[in-house]
Amino acid sequence: MLKRFSHAIIERNVILLGVLTLITVSIGGLVQIVPLFAVETTIERVEGVRPYTPLELMGRNIYMREGCYNCHSQMVRPLRDEAERYGHYSLAAESMYDHPFQWGSKRTGPDLARVGGRYSDSWHVLHLRDPRSVVPESIMPAYGFLDRPLRYDDVADHLRTLRAVGVPYTEAMIASAVADLEAQARPERDGTAFAGRYGRARQANFDEEDGPVTEMDALVAYLQMLGTLVRFGDVTPDRVRQQ
Ligand code: HEC
Repeated sequence: MLKRFSHAIIERNVILLGVLTLITVSIGGLVQIVPLFAVETTIERVEGVRPYTPLELMGRNIYMREGCYNCHSQMVRPLRDEAERYGHYSLAAESMYDHPFQWGSKRTGPDLARVGGRYSDSWHVLHLRDPRSVVPESIMPAYGFLDRPLRYDDVADHLRTLRAVGVPYTEAMIASAVADLEAQARPERDGTAFAGRYGRARQANFDEEDGPVTEMDALVAYLQMLGTLVRFGDVTPDRVRQQ
């Protein structure tokens, strides 16, 4: 009886109903939000994920500058057709060092989250210089001008800036950013120190041209590492296909 009575009061009093609704919704919100202040990160750590090498980072900056994200996403959704086409769905950890992330929202071209290692370096160079030379029906613009020298005297500043927002670049990585960038693009150089800092990162003359390190080198180095940091073992697309 009392219950029915109090309910009637609440329902007939808009302000009281509003206040009580607000309190109820706030409790729901707080229960979700407050625990997040107590944990350092909500991203599960995954083995293999590392910050970008200086060369890859410069390539990533070119990717953003040229607006590649306007036509390409970098996120494989956990849907069967996507996993079969692109590979394992993207993990949060794979973009934990991305500032800003490149998930994108438009796929005029295919998703690039796992394009690394799918083609050779020379395929990428040919494709970027003239997409129609390798994919006749392509509508992707040509980026031949990326054969110009890369400006990287400020690369250490880029690492430092990212460290300020939480990317774990060490003092040594920042101090040797220029040397590491050159070591990665010039495979004839001794890469021991570079490998000590960036593990399995591949050293190569990405654009296969002699001379200065180019924007092409940086962009191809970036494309070739996308999606390759985590080794997925038994959850590769082949496994999905077998089922
Ligand atoms: C106007 C839209 C558009 C823009 C901008 C664009 N692309 Fe593409 N891209 C495409 C289309 C369409 C394809 C598929 C046809 C082809 O392979 O050329 C493609 C294909 C690709 C592929 C091959 C992917 C695969 O799995 O076969 C790569 C790599 C790529 N683009 C990289 C880039 C990069 C890097 C940039 C920026 C410098 C860029 N694209 C800008 C439309 C675009």
